[in-house]
Amino acid sequence: MATTQKPRRALRRAIAIAAFGIAGSAFAHGDVTPQAVDVTSLKPLGDEWLESNPYRSDAEAIRIGTSAFNQNCARCHGIGAVSGGIAPDLRYLPVEDEGDEIFIMRIRNGATRNGRVYMPPFEGILQQEAMWAIRAYLETVHVE
Ligand code: HEC
Repeated sequence: MATTQKPRRALRRAIAIAAFGIAGSAFAHGDVTPQAVDVTSLKPLGDEWLESNPYRSDAEAIRIGTSAFNQNCARCHGIGAVSGGIAPDLRYLPVEDEGDEIFIMRIRNGATRNGRVYMPPFEGILQQEAMWAIRAYLETVHVE
């Protein structure tokens, strides 16, 4: 496990850096292809999956998460996390640990029912750092 993950992480990081320059142009309309996220300015989290957000309220994570959300999630969940109607409105996800648990399960596994993919899994596509950055952003737009 560890031996295969290291090179994959390195590859993803290289892709993230390469994609960083072009990501801006795809931003406005919410791209269909998953977009790599540059997480080099965040504290690395290692290979163990965490259950609660290590970046909660972290300004840099929120900055990265805002653009990562708009590039990877907004096409279904709406710009600014205001649902466009085809997916749940993520502003209503519970805050803190309760919401973290729902969030990380869903972003890693996606949602497939009866062979239909409602939401693609992001494990292996986004780094754990990028996932928690998105979660940090989502908590800033939470409504009760
Ligand atoms: C292709 C459309 C699509 C994309 C892209 C997508 N989602 Fe989803 N998402 C859905 C749908 C549809 C559901 C509801 C699934 C169900 O009903 O089982 C969902 C459910 C969720 C849930 C659970 C919400 C709840 O109230 O239980 C979370 C959290 C979530 N998505 C986060 C994300 C994040 C973060 C991203 C970007 C990394 C993302 N999604 C990208 C379509 C999408």
